[in-house]
Amino acid sequence: MSSAVAAAINFDDLRQLARRRLPKIAFDFIEGGLDDEHGIARNYSSFQDVCLVPRYGIDVATRDQSTELFGRTYASPVGIAPTGLAGLFRPGVDLMLARAARDANVPFIMSGVSTGLIEDLGRIAPEHGWYQLYCAKDRTISEDQVKRAQDAGLSTLVITVDVPVGSKRERNMRNGFTRPLKMTLKTKLEACMHPGWLAEYARTGMPLFCNWAKYAPAGATPDQVAEFVSQQTPSPCTWADIEKFRRQWKGNLVIKGIMHPDDAVRCAALGVDGIMVSNHGGRQLDKSPGPIEVLPAIVAAAGEKLTVMYDSGIRRGSDIVAALCLGAKFVFVGRATLYGAAAAGIPGAARALDIFRDEIDRTMAQIGAPDIRSLGPQHLFWEQTENLKRNWRG
Ligand SMILES: Cc1cc2nc3c(=O)[nH]c(=O)nc-3n(C[C@H](O)[C@H](O)[C@H](O)COP(=O)(O)O)c2cc1C
Repeated sequence: MSSAVAAAINFDDLRQLARRRLPKIAFDFIEGGLDDEHGIARNYSSFQDVCLVPRYGIDVATRDQSTELFGRTYASPVGIAPTGLAGLFRPGVDLMLARAARDANVPFIMSGVSTGLIEDLGRIAPEHGWYQLYCAKDRTISEDQVKRAQDAGLSTLVITVDVPVGSKRERNMRNGFTRPLKMTLKTKLEACMHPGWLAEYARTGMPLFCNWAKYAPAGATPDQVAEFVSQQTPSPCTWADIEKFRRQWKGNLVIKGIMHPDDAVRCAALGVDGIMVSNHGGRQLDKSPGPIEVLPAIVAAAGEKLTVMYDSGIRRGSDIVAALCLGAKFVFVGRATLYGAAAAGIPGAARALDIFRDEIDRTMAQIGAPDIRSLGPQHLFWEQTENLKRNWRG
C-alpha cells in the first residue's frame, strides 16, 4: 500500500488523493451531482440531524460487526455500490473493487455500465459479486444480460429504477464530458497535468463498456460501443418490467432507487427480495430529500419480507450505524471506495472499507452495542427520530 493511502484516515483524505491523481473532467464525474447540487449537500447534511445516544456500563470489550444478508454472513454491514464508467479513473478498476470486496468479505455490485465483464466477476468473486441492470430500450439485451449474470453464478440482481432519463450534470457539460466528447483546450491541458493518470489512459485507451460490446455492431470501437449504449439507455424501467425480470431471475432480486413507501409496498407485492433506499448519491433529482430522511417511513411500510438496504451520503462509519439504527439491514457506498480505488487501486478501496470498519467499531462501543443485531431505534436521540417521522408525514 502506498504511504499516502496508508496515511489516509478518513473519507475526505481518500477524496483528496483521488482529486490529486485525476484530471478535473474525471474527478468531477465522480464528485458531481446535477443542477445546483443541493441534493448532494442535503444527503450529507441530513445525516447531521440523526444523533446517536451515548450509553455506558455495558460490556463492549469485544464488538462484532458481522452482518447477515440474504442468508450469507458478511464481515461488515457496508458493501460497494455500482459505479459506471469506472475504467476511466483507473484501468481495470471494476474488478479491483470486486477483489477488494471479496478480500474484505463484503458485497460488490458491478454497474450496468461497467468496464469489467460480468463473466470475470463470476470468476473472481462469485460469492461477493452482484450485478446491476440498466434496462436497455431493446429488452432482449437486458434479458441476455440477466441470463449472463445467472450463468456467471451471481447470487443477486439489482435493477436500478431511478434513471428514467439522463440528469442535467452541469459539471460534465462544462467540462465537455458529453456525447460526442467536446474537450476544450483547457480540459486537455489540465489532463496533461496529471501524468500518472494520462500515462495509463494512453496505454489502455478509452474504456470499453464490455458487457454491451456483443450487442453493438460487429467490430465496434470503444467509442462506437459507448454510442450504442447511449442509444439504448436510459430506458424507464416499469413495474411490468420488474414483474418479468422477477420471473426470469432465480436469485435475490433487489430494486435500487426506492424513495417512497408506496413503491416499497409495490416491490414487496411483486415478490422482490430487497430494495435500496437511495437517490443515486444525489445524481438524479436535485430536489430529492436525503434518503436517510425517508428511510424510517419506508422501513415501516416495507413489511417483514422485504430487505431494506441503504445508500447515499455516507462519509463516516457513524453514518452507517445511524442508517442501521433507522432500520436499514445493510449499507452501500459509491464514492468512498471509488475515490480509494481511483487513488490507489485495490489497496485504496480496501483502505476505504477499513476506515469504515474502524469507525463503525468505535461508534458501536460508544452507544453500548456489542453487535449489529443489537442496533435499533433505542440508540437514536428520540427528538430527532420524531422529527424524521414528522417530516415524512408533513
Ligand atoms: C461515479 C458514479 C457512478 C455511478 N454509476 C452508477 C451506476 O452505473 N449504476 C447505479 O445504479 N448507480 C450508480 N451510481 C450511484 C451509486 O450506486 C450510489 O447510489 C451512490 O454513489 C451512493 O452515494 P454516495 O456516493 O454518496 O455513497 C454512481 C455513482 C457515482 C458517484
